[in-house]
Order: sequence, then structure tokens, then C-alpha cells
Amino acid sequence: MNRNHAIALLDSGVGGLTVVQEIFRHLPQERIVYFGDTARMPYGPRPHAEVRAFAKQIIRFLVTQDVKLLIVACNTAAAAGLDEYQSLYDLPVIGVIEPGVRAALKHTKNRRIGVIGTAGTISSGAYEKALQRLCPDIRVFSQSCPLFVLLVENNLVDTPEALCVAEEYLRPLKKAEVDVVILGCTHYPLMAHVISRVMGKEVKLISSAAETALEAGAILKKKNLLRTAGPVPVKHRYFVSGSPGSFVAIAEKLLGTQVEAYQVLLP
Ligand code: DGL
Repeated sequence: MNRNHAIALLDSGVGGLTVVQEIFRHLPQERIVYFGDTARMPYGPRPHAEVRAFAKQIIRFLVTQDVKLLIVACNTAAAAGLDEYQSLYDLPVIGVIEPGVRAALKHTKNRRIGVIGTAGTISSGAYEKALQRLCPDIRVFSQSCPLFVLLVENNLVDTPEALCVAEEYLRPLKKAEVDVVILGCTHYPLMAHVISRVMGKEVKLISSAAETALEAGAILKKKNLLRTAGPVPVKHRYFVSGSPGSFVAIAEKLLGTQVEAYQVLLP
């Protein structure tokens, strides 16, 4: 492992690109290798054991790509088995749940926190456990929002239907008068404007993407593995399990740069 190796990220689709965006902002000299399991998304409704098996299969592929750190940029996959992924290889592996929890606790004033995520993440109770471990008297109100991922992956975020769906899902959190909502799915920052419109400006939305990028930087610094900028721009690599078309369209819009994605059929 050396400092020129890449930071690897995995997600079921385009959601983990919200973490990539923050890596580009905070660690612009780093190279990334990304895997979006678009052929098998959404992960949210799948059993934890199945998601864990998919994540392990992707990690097996990513470790062949000269990587120095792995970010499980998918809450559903992290909730299904982060400890297990951390034990597989001699490689630092981080998730997105703990960083989001830390950021939410920094912002709440009334100690009423909303968590939205996929069915898999919400049913795992991973956020409640992590929040209550750090702050036992916190009140947590959780809500799964299964259709959000499909709205994002199909580029339907800016439609009246997306607003209706958000109003329906978020009603209980509005009623609970939370002052912070954790976007507990890496796809959700891509529809943060819709969520914010429903929740109101005074409710702070927390994406774990920036915190996760900062944590990745801190780990690499400690291990003396931060890459130093060279004269040649770094070449990032994007892999998907489905056809690359719509992944590339969303990635280019989000990252503001040209993206080439390659289809990989996992064994
Ligand atoms: N982006 C993912 C997450 O953070 C997965 C969404 C899905 O595939 O259901 O949970």
C-alpha cells in the first residue's frame, strides 16, 4: 500500500458520489476508484445478509485495484456488516453512519433528531444505537423512505410526484418537531432541496458525506498515506454492474466533470 494508491468507494448506485464530491473538495489530490452496483440497486428492501454478500463481493473486486482505504459509502451496506468488512483485509475501512451521527449531535439544540434512510438501514437500528451510545438522552425519530432512491436513480427528483412522496414520508418527523434530520442514505443529499422544502429552513439537514471525507483524510494522514499533488491530473475510475448510461449522466451533472464508467460483471 502506498500514497499513490486510490481511495475506494462502494454504493448500490450513484449515492456514494455525494461522498466522492466531498473527497474532491477536501482531498483534491486523491485518486478514487468507485463501484456502483446499479444492476442490483436498490439495496434498501433486501435482507441484510444479501446486502452483506453483495458488499463483500464488491470489496473483493476493489482490493484488486491498488487501494489504500475503503469507504462503504452506502448506509444500507454499512448497517448490514461494517465490522465484518473491516475484518476481511489489511485495509482501513470506514462507513458513513458514525460520521453523520457526530455531525448531527453537534447541531441539535432540542435533542430531537430525525433519521431517514432505506428500509434496511432503519430496521437495523444502527443510527439509534450510535446516537444513543454518544448521547443517551437523545430522542430519535426514524423513518424509512424507500422511494427516494428510485427517484434519484431515475432523475425524477424535480417532479411534483417527488414532492408529494416527500410530504408523505416526512410528516411524522415534522410532527415530532425534530431540529435536525440525518440523511441516512447517501442518495438523499441529491434531493436535499426537496426534503428541505418539506421540513422547513429551520431544520438542519445532515449529510455524512463531508464528515466522512474528513475522516478519510485524517486516517490517511495518520498512516502517512496522503497523496501529494503531482504535475499530471489524477485519473479516477468508475465501475458499475449495470449499463453505464444513466450513471454517467448523473455523475457528470453532480461532479461537474467528464466521467467514464465501465461495466464489470462480478463473478
Ligand atoms: N445509497 C444507499 C444507502 O446509503 C443505498 C440505497 C439503496 O440502494 O437502497 O443506503
